[in-house]
Amino acid sequence: MDIDNRSRYLDLLKKSLLDELYLENEARILYFVNCVLEQRPLDVKTFLEIKHHPIFKSVSEGRAQGAWHMFLTAAADGQMVQRHDLRFAAETGHLMMGRRRLDHLHACLDTVLREAIAGDLIETGVWRGGGTIFMRGFLAAHDVRDRTVWVADSFDGIPPPSLPQDQGYVMSKEVQPFAAVPLEDVSELFERYGLLDGQVKFLKGWFRETLPGAPIERLALMRLDGDLYESTMDALTALYDRLSPGGFVIIDDYGNMPPCKQAVDEFRQRRGIDDELQAIDVAGVFWRKPRRAA
Ligand SMILES: C[S@@+](CC[C@H](N)C(=O)[O-])C[C@H]1O[C@@H](n2cnc3c(N)ncnc32)[C@H](O)[C@@H]1O
Repeated sequence: MDIDNRSRYLDLLKKSLLDELYLENEARILYFVNCVLEQRPLDVKTFLEIKHHPIFKSVSEGRAQGAWHMFLTAAADGQMVQRHDLRFAAETGHLMMGRRRLDHLHACLDTVLREAIAGDLIETGVWRGGGTIFMRGFLAAHDVRDRTVWVADSFDGIPPPSLPQDQGYVMSKEVQPFAAVPLEDVSELFERYGLLDGQVKFLKGWFRETLPGAPIERLALMRLDGDLYESTMDALTALYDRLSPGGFVIIDDYGNMPPCKQAVDEFRQRRGIDDELQAIDVAGVFWRKPRRAA
């Protein structure tokens, strides 16, 4: 693929994963749902000209920051809402991370190729799979055939807290059913993008069971998005030693999930890692494994 077509494809892929192309319709669904829930009539002019309504601004801002699902959750008076709640009908994007974190992932992948950092790519905690779909699309656009994208998830939601560090953070599927996306749905989404092939491997189950024995030799990039202390620590413990020098560790929830931050801080302290933790946005951070480490 020539360079112009490659950047056009990857740009379009990101817009599609973020549902930026049809954002008005997402705002329209949300407006419609709010009308139903609040039992007020739908105003056709507002519906058609949704771009001028504050709801469109909220959806756009949320998509940029990746906080859109939280915006919807917060709309329920701070109460957790179930997936069958109509509000979730407006969640049409294929990933939770927003534009900034996706652009940052893209930049890290560019660096991996430019600097020839050896190894595969993994996301632990994939939800609908959009982050890993982007990774596979990136490899395809660059005609990279010797790296695998590992897609690790329970495909059954976030585990109930089992460690003291996670007490109080009950986000399992009984409370957050929208976080539990079956493997069949994720693999079907890969297929829709034309990106399901032998360079995509699924690791289904709790990280503590799947990651330690996973047949991964080297990693160039690991993106951790499991929210909890347990999920973050299990991924770091199982995978960090397989990360190549110069490789990327991306942590999605450092700034908004205290148990995740605790796991990262403890792991880095225990392993004597003092490489700068760099902010991606309000919540996401990353560091690079030093090249001196073998
Ligand atoms: C916040 S979502 C991931 C969002 C995704 N990275 C994105 O940007 O679209 C968290 C995911 O982590 C998974 N998860 C969390 N902890 C896990 C664990 N310990 N084992 C397996 N899956 C886990 C959940 O099933 C869920 O799909």
